[in-house]
Amino acid sequence: MTASTEKLSTILVIVGITGDLSKRKLLPAIERLAAANVLPAHFKILGITRRDVSAHQVVQAMPADTPHGFINQSLEMFQMDLADGQDYKRLIERLDGMARGMDGPVQRLFYLSVPPQISLPVVKLLGAAGLSDEPHTKLLLEKPFGVDLASATELIDQTKEHFKESQVYRIDHYLAKDMAQNLIVFREGNALFRHTWNKDFIEKIDIVASEKIGIEGRAAFYEQTGALRDLVQSHLLQLTALTLMHPPESHDLRNICQCRIEALRQLHVPADQAPALWLSRGQYQGYRDEVKNPGSMVETFVDLTLMSDDPAWGGVPIHIVTGKHLKEKATEIRITYKKTEQYESNSLVIRFQPNEGIELKLWTKVPDYEWRVENHSLGLNFQEKFANAPEAYEQVLLDALKSDQTLFTTSDEVLESWRILAPVQRHWEMNSEDLILYKPGSTTTEVIAR
Ligand code: BG6
Repeated sequence: MTASTEKLSTILVIVGITGDLSKRKLLPAIERLAAANVLPAHFKILGITRRDVSAHQVVQAMPADTPHGFINQSLEMFQMDLADGQDYKRLIERLDGMARGMDGPVQRLFYLSVPPQISLPVVKLLGAAGLSDEPHTKLLLEKPFGVDLASATELIDQTKEHFKESQVYRIDHYLAKDMAQNLIVFREGNALFRHTWNKDFIEKIDIVASEKIGIEGRAAFYEQTGALRDLVQSHLLQLTALTLMHPPESHDLRNICQCRIEALRQLHVPADQAPALWLSRGQYQGYRDEVKNPGSMVETFVDLTLMSDDPAWGGVPIHIVTGKHLKEKATEIRITYKKTEQYESNSLVIRFQPNEGIELKLWTKVPDYEWRVENHSLGLNFQEKFANAPEAYEQVLLDALKSDQTLFTTSDEVLESWRILAPVQRHWEMNSEDLILYKPGSTTTEVIAR
């Protein structure tokens, strides 16, 4: 399967090509894949827009320092009304026309980078036009996958009416980050960690995604989304699953979708305790003006503790924190080991950003006449060692071309993550007193302490 599709002539249809994600991540990723010479020999991009936008305008909108020679050559544009079934007939003609100039069977990747309320109607119209039945057709979807358990169930059920699960690639770019894959190798490949990766040795786990940036002009998107849906439901629960999962018995560390689902199934909020003990939310000052909604209760900060029913993790709190406009950008998993009788605990930090790397904090004796110990770090800085590591979107695109779904989110994972968060959403629907207003530039600890 893997080898059979990666070199097929390909048309990548980008719905939402003028959006932020496409400009900042997707198009630059394609350019780098082309430079690395890993794209199929025949590869074209069809950008779909509602308004009359030229390929030149799309290229101009890419970040200034990004090379764009390949995009310049391969991008064509198609203007259509995504809500009009007739326009999909024109789209078929256009795709057939493009395919005629390409070698052999052509695979078509429909990449939907549009708001969730547009995504499902487009999926249905692609299906109704017969586009989902074409051989080698794939659907690449961006989050959020629904807004809660009910809407995600509906989205998944209705998508299934047109596309088989094997055709659907739900992107979670955190899963495709190199460090996420490294986490599995690191904890499974090293006896030191493999045998201590459980409640007997680990005291607590912190999954942190603190961001310096705010909502970057995405007011409408963020007002419908908030930090819980934007970061926790997807990226941070995936990192949690990767941390807690048991590796596959086959020892094939690339075959882990089912293991992630099992880990998610056992996660829950500590419902026997008052919500204030395991949940808080915040909003940075100035957010309401930015989104022009003086009464907005949308959270830009979440602090949530989960527990697992897995006997290997009983009693270990999993603390998830994320927020926008904080003091620093830091995406990391912090493992705190149980303390020994003599010394405080060791900790292991798996850092995704910035300075991708792994850091183990250990106690050592200070060379001295006196007996004095200090905490020092043993570190591995991936940035220094591997300067040209691929970006997550390069991996996402390459894996979709290869038909490798390992680093994509399955529908079961989406449903499980909404199930975990349902009590949080219910609690927030019924309470409005708990929103903390924090100063931009605060640390996570300062927000939580307010
Ligand atoms: C996106 C969110 O999925 O991830 C953004 O929509 C967020 O709000 C981004 O800023 C963070 O990704 P990264 O890779 O920069 O940590």
